[in-house]
Amino acid sequence: MAEKWVLMVTAQTPTNIAVIKYWGKRDENLILPINDSISVTLDPQHLCTTTSVAVSPAFTHDRMWLNGKEISLSGGRYQNCLRELRARASDVEDEEKGIKIAKKDWEKLHVHIASYNNFPTAAGLASSAAGFACLVFSLAKLMNVKEDHSKLSAIARQGSGSACRSLYGGFVKWIMGKEENGSDSIAVQLADEKHWGDLVIIIAVVSSRQKETSSTSGMRETVETSMLIEHRAKEVVPRRIIQMEEAIKDHDFPSFSRLACSDSNQFHAVCLDTSPPIFYMNDTSHRIISCIEKWNRFEGTPQVAYTFDAGPNAVLIAHNRNAAKLLLQRLLFYFPPQSDTDLSRYSLPSHVDFYCWKSVNFNSLKSIFPLCLLFSSYVIGDKSILEDAGVHNMKDIEALAAPPEVKDNTPAQKYKGDVSYFICTRPGKGPVLLNDETKELLNAETGLPN
Ligand code: DP6
Repeated sequence: MAEKWVLMVTAQTPTNIAVIKYWGKRDENLILPINDSISVTLDPQHLCTTTSVAVSPAFTHDRMWLNGKEISLSGGRYQNCLRELRARASDVEDEEKGIKIAKKDWEKLHVHIASYNNFPTAAGLASSAAGFACLVFSLAKLMNVKEDHSKLSAIARQGSGSACRSLYGGFVKWIMGKEENGSDSIAVQLADEKHWGDLVIIIAVVSSRQKETSSTSGMRETVETSMLIEHRAKEVVPRRIIQMEEAIKDHDFPSFSRLACSDSNQFHAVCLDTSPPIFYMNDTSHRIISCIEKWNRFEGTPQVAYTFDAGPNAVLIAHNRNAAKLLLQRLLFYFPPQSDTDLSRYSLPSHVDFYCWKSVNFNSLKSIFPLCLLFSSYVIGDKSILEDAGVHNMKDIEALAAPPEVKDNTPAQKYKGDVSYFICTRPGKGPVLLNDETKELLNAETGLPN
């Protein structure tokens, strides 16, 4: 075997948002949950992780780079995933390159992993789900692991619980399982992304300076100290899971919305019931909830569902495009951008995703266009919703009328700058292999980051 070769695989994996939440483990090492959960996979065009993995006899140890920075792989979660994958690796042959790797060689060979998120990491959006799912999916392809997605989900689960749900597109259920070894704690797809294609998802990235408690330690503290969590896991979630599956199957938005909102609120209630209490939502999060609740009540039937993970960002799921348009108008009315933010003039061209911007030197760009703060672009992702809403510039926002549900009350208050930006997206597909060499994050000859 020539010692020079590098064999590489690149894949892209979506992130997901739970509508029935996972919170609490019964086994910390294997990452086994105390209840089932259900999520919606988000369109990877707007939020995803891209990972390149490479193997070469020239590599001296396993290495990983996240968003261009080398990180340690010594943590138990990485080690568990790597061990599980190596144990399932098979023979690999690349005739073109003259490479042959026997099953037993994988124990000795080392891998390089480079991972990149197409959304700003500072946004506080769950990146570990897409990250671990992508690591497991791409390494499984590289190592010719002949397991189906549900078996791979059980490996991704050991990296981060929510990662197991990112192995599929559409609507996904993580079955908690009963076995002590976790073999039946797997994710399954309930419906693909086309099943309920009308849904539109708008994420409000809420400005926050607060250092948040990580999900891992937060849920540990909840299990140790909350009395409510047991009632939630044993009595409430099992019923909600059945109802949510029905709602998804029947496209029953009112039920979907009521369940998702109640479950998000209960998750934050058990956080508050933790000692010391954990506050993930802030005043802006609460204002967004009030806005949606008021509007849904005014309409007599839910237009939008809200859900919040372990942070203040709101994930808003609109029934259809019309509801999304009305939602965006309301959000921009209550939460207008800081005046120096332009809506579209300086934003990323819609045909260029963040991926292409990873190598851009923002400081030099700022000096070319002094006003061009790329990430201050206020509505990103699927900008066509902005068109639907008839909002093209700051003047259009200033001209937005107060929503009818507040008209007769005292003048509606506005909260300028309390939302950093919005991401418009939709339910999306599961992991895919990328065959485009320009998307590779490792050099095909050296196996080092590009
Ligand atoms: C609030 O999957 O991040 O997003 O398993 O410890 O890595 P670990 O936790 P993580 O927890 C996610 C919690 C949540 C709800 C959910 O995604 O279901």
